[in-house]
Amino acid sequence: MYNKFAYIYDELMKDVDYKNWYLYIENVFNKFHKTPEDVLEMACGTGNLSYYLGKKGYDLICFDISNDMLSIAYNKLQNFRNVKIINQNMIDFNINKKFDAIISICDSINYILDEKDLLKTFKNVKKHLHKDGIFIFDINSHYKLSQIIGNNTFIEDREDIYYIWQNYFDEKSNIAEFYITFFTMDKDGKYIRFEEEHVERAYSTEEITQLLHSASFKDIYMYNGLSFEEIHDKSERISFIAMT
Ligand SMILES: C[S@@+](CC[C@H](N)C(=O)[O-])C[C@H]1O[C@@H](n2cnc3c(N)ncnc32)[C@H](O)[C@@H]1O
Repeated sequence: MYNKFAYIYDELMKDVDYKNWYLYIENVFNKFHKTPEDVLEMACGTGNLSYYLGKKGYDLICFDISNDMLSIAYNKLQNFRNVKIINQNMIDFNINKKFDAIISICDSINYILDEKDLLKTFKNVKKHLHKDGIFIFDINSHYKLSQIIGNNTFIEDREDIYYIWQNYFDEKSNIAEFYITFFTMDKDGKYIRFEEEHVERAYSTEEITQLLHSASFKDIYMYNGLSFEEIHDKSERISFIAMT
């Protein structure tokens, strides 16, 4: 669960080009001839993609399960009259409205650890989409979680933040556990230590495709990262696009 991490999330993600991610989403809409008006963003985190979607003028509802993440999102999005922020869980969210597009980026789907819960999520997404709706999300690939991140330790030494990220990957359960120890500098130049544990599940593309079919999605496409190229053995991020 994102708690204190939420308040330094944007600092740690500053190399991630969310504008480019937003432009990719627009390219997906264009490629599949979609002109959505009502958009739902699941697991919006601190609202980095939501900001661009809001700026474009979509009627946007965005949600996350972490109030800490949402409080940062609120600061970014409070001036957009077309954006609503709520706290919901992807697995059982219930919004009394249907959408033209539902989006979830940056491996939020990997946070759903149980296949049954993922099926519930996909069914719920389907239920909240209009006919001819589009569902766009991405995952950290099995390859990335097991070979790149899994059983590795990363240390990052930045100006105000120092962190140690220890990871364990279990081949049987396909669960990746991340133990992160942060040292952040306060106003007086003293370091404050805190720890967070994050867990992601690695899914194969076959598992995801099968679950999407079980949730009655019709056409399913997958691409390497933020591209329209085919995935390969060493794809680290896989974008999925599914149609109702
Ligand atoms: C890696 S962050 C990505 C956040 C944001 N999408 C971004 O691009 O920066 C994963 C997010 O998923 C959220 N999350 C995890 N499980 C969730 C759930 N079951 N329902 C809603 N949000 C969830 C976390 O709180 C966190 O904000």
